[in-house]
Amino acid sequence: MKRLLLPLAALALAGCAGDPIPEVTPSMAKRTDVDPAKLAHGRELYIENCNRCHERVLPGSIDPEYWRGIIPHMARNAQLTSAEQADVLNYLIAAHLEVYHIEDD
Ligand code: HEC
Repeated sequence: MKRLLLPLAALALAGCAGDPIPEVTPSMAKRTDVDPAKLAHGRELYIENCNRCHERVLPGSIDPEYWRGIIPHMARNAQLTSAEQADVLNYLIAAHLEVYHIEDD
């Protein structure tokens, strides 16, 4: 029974947080001060490239500082240009903040 409970708890949490790979919204653009078209491009790149070698790591599952650290390495893995890398990173941070409804200061 214990084995079942943990995944169920994870599912319930994901359910509360809404879409784990949220579409770009004006509030995401505002939070990060990044052009929504660039965020949308980052989302596409993330969907296309970031589950090729391993299970997809969702934007909300690790915090923005960790994303900043790992994305340069993963962008090289995915052979993204530096502009594409910036779009993916900005999307992941925007989506992370959106998933957790973190308010602006
Ligand atoms: C060519 C294969 C490849 C691609 C493409 C790739 N990764 Fe990875 N990823 C790896 C490997 C291998 C590791 C584990 C070891 C390491 O750090 O290299 C990893 C580790 C990670 C980790 C760390 C997981 C942990 O437990 O610390 C994250 C987060 C991650 N990848 C996200 C991404 C994202 C986001 C993308 C898309 C931009 C991506 N990866 C694309 C191969 C890839």
